[in-house]
This record gives sequence, C-alpha cells and structure tokens, in this order.
Amino acid sequence: MTTLLTGARVLGGEVRDLAIHDGALVDPASIDRDAAEVVDAAGLVALPGLVDLHTHLRQPGGEQAETVASGLRAAAAGGFTCVFAMANTTPVADTPAVVEQVHRLGLESGLATVRPIGAVTVGLRGERLADMLMLHRSAAGVTVFSDDGHCVADAELMRRALEHAASMDAVVAQHAQEPSLTRGAQMHEGALSAELGLAGWPAVAEAAVVARDALLAELAGARLHVCHVSTAQTVEVVRAAKARGVRITAEVTPHHLLLTEELVRGYDGRYKVNPPLRPEADVLALREALADGTIDIVATDHAPHAPEAKQAAFAEAAFGMVGLETALGVVQQSMVETGLLDWAGIARVLSTAPAAIGREPGYDAPLEVGSPAHVVLVDPAARRTIEVGHLRGRSANSPFLGVELPGEVRHVWHAGRRTVRDGAVLAAPDAGEAA
Ligand code: DOR
Repeated sequence: MTTLLTGARVLGGEVRDLAIHDGALVDPASIDRDAAEVVDAAGLVALPGLVDLHTHLRQPGGEQAETVASGLRAAAAGGFTCVFAMANTTPVADTPAVVEQVHRLGLESGLATVRPIGAVTVGLRGERLADMLMLHRSAAGVTVFSDDGHCVADAELMRRALEHAASMDAVVAQHAQEPSLTRGAQMHEGALSAELGLAGWPAVAEAAVVARDALLAELAGARLHVCHVSTAQTVEVVRAAKARGVRITAEVTPHHLLLTEELVRGYDGRYKVNPPLRPEADVLALREALADGTIDIVATDHAPHAPEAKQAAFAEAAFGMVGLETALGVVQQSMVETGLLDWAGIARVLSTAPAAIGREPGYDAPLEVGSPAHVVLVDPAARRTIEVGHLRGRSANSPFLGVELPGEVRHVWHAGRRTVRDGAVLAAPDAGEAA
C-alpha cells in the first residue's frame, strides 16, 4: 500500500507532495497515484517525526502514573515517533534486564520507538557507576546515560562516567543540580520564594554543575548533554563552553519556554517542577538561546504523576509535569509566533538534533526520499484549549489544562505506519505500510 500526502508545506516553506511506500519516503512521481491512499495535506505543515530525548515512561514500577503503552499514546498524539525513556524507574534502568524490558514494551506498542536511557550510577544513588558498557551492548543498545531526577554530584564519578561514555560514543545527560545548594527546595529562589515562604532553588545550583561538567567533558573528550536548562546564567556557561569547543549540548523544556514562577503564587502543585519555573528574564534568555543554537533541542521532561502525588500541599507535592501532547503547541507559541524560529527550525530542535544527540538513525535527512517515513502533519492555524481529553497518557498533571495553544497534530506516520489519523491515536498502528 502507498500513501500520497498532497500539497503539504515542507521545511523550506515550499508546497509539495510526499509519498510513503514500504515504510519509507519515495518519489511521488514514481508511484501509481490511482492505487494510493490520498491524504489532503493542503494548509498543513509536514514535519519529520518528533524525537524526545527526555521522557519518563514510569514502567516498570510506576504504572499507576504511566506505562510504556500509555506514554507512547501521549507521544503519538504529540507527533513523536521516538522517545528516550528516563532511567528513574523501579527498579532503576541500571541492568540489561530493565532496559531490554522497556525496549521490548516499546516494540510491542508500535506507536513510536522507545530508546531506554541507562542509569549512570547503580540505583541512581550516586555511589558507584552502573555497568554502562553492558547496557550499551544489551539488546536495547543504550546510547544515552542519565541519573535524571538526581544529579551525578560526585565529580570523580562524573569524570569516569564521561570517560566510559566517550569510549562507546554515548552521551551523559546530566540533571544539573548541586544538592548542597537545593536542600528542601520547592521553587526558584528569589523575592517570590521569600514572599511565599517556600524554600528556594538558586539559579547558581544549576550553572555551577554545568560549569564543572563542561570542564570534565573537555578533559575526557566526551559528549555532555545538559538536561532542562532553566536559567540565563546556565545559558552563559553553555555558550562559553561551546565557544571553547567543548562537546556540550543542551535542552530546554516547553514549560520553561512559556511559564514563569508567578504561577506558583496559588500554591498549586501542578506548577511544581524540577528545575523550577523561573522569572520572565530567564524565559526570554532560554528562547534566545534556543533560537541562536546555544540550546540545541527542546525535550519534554514528560513526568506523569498520579493525582494524589500532585494534589498534596505544595511542599509535599511531586515534581513534574506531563508534556508530550502539548510540546509542539507550546513551542509554536513561544518560538514560531514570536518570530524566533521557523518550521525548519522546529524540525531541527524537535527531531533532527535530538536524534543526532541520541545517535538514533533515520532522522538525518528529514522528509527526503529514501528516509524512513516518520512524518507529522500539523495544522498550524488550529487553536485549541487543552482539556483532559487531549491528554492521551495515564496522567493529567499538565500545567496547560484550560490554556489555549496554537497548532494541532492531525496525522502521524511512524516508519510508514499510521499512528494518528485526524487527531485520533490509533489503538494499534495501521500495519499497511509496515516494512
Ligand atoms: O520535575 C521533575 N520530575 N524533574 C525531574 O528531574 C524528575 C521528574 C520526575 O521523574 O518526576
């Protein structure tokens, strides 16, 4: 079976047809048009399948909040065809058994590719290194290592982790948070935290770790990736390291591109996240940094939590927000509608660049003939107020409920299989295009 997408706006802004056959993009001139299923893509933007380098799928151990299958429904709804699953599961993804289980559950769902992230330290305890090489050589083929949720605070361990990663062309993704500066921290440290009586998380706790790690990565000749950069100060540290030639990449989350600490005034646990929401000056600096390439990618930090975990008093509530379903709309609002990035830029920060950092093949020639057919059709003119029904994962801890966002994901193909049709996630992907 062949699918023809007619009149889509592709990355340079040019309008053309795309054709999918046998899981790959083929030349539309080469197909039998009469036998093809035709999808009218007029007015829609075609993007390569989105890649999220930072997703919490919670399985194993946190199935009340999310499973691999439910997380992949959320991913598909948001236009993602590949997600990297964080290692802070129960048990932790520090053994081949766990990463292989997560990988297999992803294959069973078929809605998107799951790449398990391996833990840097055993049990995320920051005491001794996990067997990184064994995780890399496992059937899951781990290429990204992270203790996310925890900082690898010990400099010697971080140095050794970077050295091991370099030997296998993997990357260490650091959750940069100096623990001794953030004990009990609930929100950004500043005038507002003092006013609200909540313990503060100072910006320097992030930048100090990134500065140290940049020096360690330089020493090891290794690739360092900085998770969820949240402050202008960290942007400056990353910028200086890049200028020196350090192999450093960085991500920003959608929520840090749009929301400010002011939301915490109502003590609503929905706005509690780690790193915390920051003042507007930081938000603007993050947008500029994403536009000028200092920050390489957007990653969701999709962090589902069961209702009880978020409805507690602010100081007891869990950190984290879901983000897969709303990421593209938030990035459209904060980057496209502000004139900071065009759609080709969106494809870079949400697909090509994260795939390159994670060494995920098949995304290096987006929408070009011969590439795997990971395709998203987005209606950029749509506007929708986010409701629980738009959230396809198991948890609804979104800060965007009730918020109007631009754009709507209309159709998605993952390796030529249709996973979203007219905005609806297909229970089992259409197998018509399976290779
Ligand atoms: O807000 C967060 N939630 N930040 C993290 O680093 C971890 C994540 C989680 O796992 O819930």
